[in-house]
Amino acid sequence: MKLLTPIKIGNLEIRNRVVMPSMTNNYTKDGYVTQQMLDYYEARARGGVGMICVEDGIVDFPVGNNTKNPVSIDNNKYIPMLTKLSTVIKKHGARAAIQISHAGRRAGRVSHENGCMEVTRGMMPVAPSIVGHPFPGHVVPQELRIEEIEGIVEKFGQATRRALEAGFEVVGLHCAHMYLCGEFLSPWANKRTDKYGGNLENRLRFVLEIIERMKKELVNVPLICRMNGQEPEGGNTLLEIREIARRLQLAGVEAISVSTGFGAVLNERDFISAEAPIGTPEGCIVHLAENIKIGITIPVMTGNMIRNPEFAENVLLENRADMITLGRPLITDPDWVNKVRAGKYRDIRPCVSCCQGCVGYLTKDLPITCIMNPVAGKEGDLSMQPVPADREKKVLVIGGGPGGLETAITAASRGHKVTIWEKEQQLGGTLLLAELPPRKDELKKIRDYFSHTVSQLKIEVELGKEANKELIKAFKPDAVVLAIGGQSIIPLIKGIAQNNVFLANDVLRNNMTLGEKVVIIGGGQVGVELAELLGEKGVSVTVVEALPSVAGDMSSAVKVLLMFKLEDYNVRMLTNTLAKEIKANGVLIERNDAEEFIEADSIVIAVGSAAQNSLEVELKEFVQEVYAVGDCLKPGNILGAVHDGYKVGLII
Ligand SMILES: Cc1cc2nc3c(=O)[nH]c(=O)nc-3n(C[C@H](O)[C@H](O)[C@H](O)COP(=O)(O)OP(=O)(O)OC[C@H]3O[C@@H](n4cnc5c(N)ncnc54)[C@H](O)[C@@H]3O)c2cc1C
Ligand SMILES: Cc1cc2nc3c(=O)[nH]c(=O)nc-3n(C[C@H](O)[C@H](O)[C@H](O)COP(=O)(O)O)c2cc1C
Ligand code: SF4
Repeated sequence: MKLLTPIKIGNLEIRNRVVMPSMTNNYTKDGYVTQQMLDYYEARARGGVGMICVEDGIVDFPVGNNTKNPVSIDNNKYIPMLTKLSTVIKKHGARAAIQISHAGRRAGRVSHENGCMEVTRGMMPVAPSIVGHPFPGHVVPQELRIEEIEGIVEKFGQATRRALEAGFEVVGLHCAHMYLCGEFLSPWANKRTDKYGGNLENRLRFVLEIIERMKKELVNVPLICRMNGQEPEGGNTLLEIREIARRLQLAGVEAISVSTGFGAVLNERDFISAEAPIGTPEGCIVHLAENIKIGITIPVMTGNMIRNPEFAENVLLENRADMITLGRPLITDPDWVNKVRAGKYRDIRPCVSCCQGCVGYLTKDLPITCIMNPVAGKEGDLSMQPVPADREKKVLVIGGGPGGLETAITAASRGHKVTIWEKEQQLGGTLLLAELPPRKDELKKIRDYFSHTVSQLKIEVELGKEANKELIKAFKPDAVVLAIGGQSIIPLIKGIAQNNVFLANDVLRNNMTLGEKVVIIGGGQVGVELAELLGEKGVSVTVVEALPSVAGDMSSAVKVLLMFKLEDYNVRMLTNTLAKEIKANGVLIERNDAEEFIEADSIVIAVGSAAQNSLEVELKEFVQEVYAVGDCLKPGNILGAVHDGYKVGLII
């Protein structure tokens, strides 16, 4: 497989063509690499990846920072821990690279959940020009003065020196995503009229000066550069982007990693974010790498939404790029490369591009995790490692949703004899509904993975079997795991018991036709996704939500496209609104202290679900070990169910 063949960047040989690109993880403390971070990266290096590029080393903290816990590289005091980091990566044969960066005007975002300019410790962000980042809430930056620019160039030089002292074998310059370097390059953000602005030659000057300074440190050590393959309207054209890449090569850059995204979503069509969300086609930016590759001879890396080994292989075979960056899939499965090498593609835990545990947690200032990998970020935590069971137990898992399935495979992999009872005719639980709204087909990969693993581990599955106390008693299990999911909540609204009222889950499950006008009560993920599904079919939809905003339970990376669609379908979103009474021909609502009647053929209830684990107490009378996982314990999401299931699977 070409994917697994070595390649050279400069004079440095990389054992294969899979690169883990920079991904900020919030595992550091006060800028220092932590043990948690060492364990996380070591697991990926052990998993066979060719090169790991550690994320965003901030060259100028705090003003150049835009995350809660960045890796800092602006002071020699960070070198010892950085050295440990490069060492654990190299120990397993992967090449250790580090990206260095300055966030420019993307620092100091006020839209951040934790408030104004916290990440820059109250300092004003800096940028080429006084042009605010278009993402709502970003503060307008200060324009850098010439002497300040010179100072920043030197900081990149010093950071490079530290990277080398810390044993990194490759240094990456972050020119993508409209951070400071990207801002200087782009007329979208750079409005200067001095030697750093105006024509492309001038816009390149800042980056070329940094490269020249970095090169003074980088004797025989490759420099790679990450750049955007496309820019928003008013930014560089594809031809200019190709020219930038050519100039970077001329300046001594030895490989280019092509990315996209600029931290804002301006419109539905032009937008491919740095982390393409679920529903984006595989290899969505390979064409941008191809555009860049035309003008240069150094290796070009492409990624973003490359998931399947066969797809990655074809990109290389067709010479569309030379290396593949694999980001989120390596959060989900650190052993991706080793599994590919062993031909065990179906054993790979799938990343479904949901952006929930990774980017979603990052934007909430939390350490990243993954819905499908409960061990992500906990690789060194011994309590999270499966150990063979002392004795084989007869384990009954009730419910074949993600919670039950994860429990079953974890317990079975430790040597227990596991049986799953599922009352429906197929496994998957609520996942079967979750994958129905537009763009969510990718969730099917979760079911595929579980089904495959369940059969590999010879777990007995009884479909169409609804558990009750008597059946469980007769089965004589040593341990029972309740994973029966939540129960849809029926709110106390006058008139709700009418035959024009339906539960969202039933509408999805039975693909119901609801008429021309529909009111959905509840604007959480289920409500708004159903609104889109109905809107797509031409139904006139109104969403009634009591809270001040809709879809608060969704990752913003995924929500953003959905909101564009709801706008396209003229879905009426009524927040801070109460449904007061349901009538035969619609719903009476109250908002802004006034009542309004909304006509509707059908009313759909989507106000969430409640726990249903009362059986737990009853079962304890005759079963030694009883557990509950997932929505039946605490309604939530796939992450909650899978993580619960894993933890219970470990302790049975
Ligand atoms: C439309 C929709 C979209 C969603 N989108 C997302 C999303 O994008 N991301 C996300 O993280 N979450 C999403 N969710 C939520 C997610 O699907 C659930 O949180 C998750 O499936 C819960 O897993 P679970 O295993 O706890 O329960 P479930 O998936 O509900 O599985 C419970 C299983 O138990 C079975 N069962 C019940 N009683 C018995 C019994 N007595 N005997 C045998 N079997 C029984 C049920 O048939 C079912 O198969 C969505 C939900 C919906 C409805
Ligand atoms: C949690 C997270 C943090 C990221 N942080 C960075 C970063 O610090 N620097 C960077 O260049 N890209 C960053 N990215 C973008 C990734 O490097 C990668 O380009 C992106 O995830 C798309 O590739 P994928 O589909 O393989 O994940 C980040 C992505 C994620 C998911
Ligand atoms: S949380 Fe979702 S997008 Fe992020 S790595 Fe896991 S599966 Fe992929």
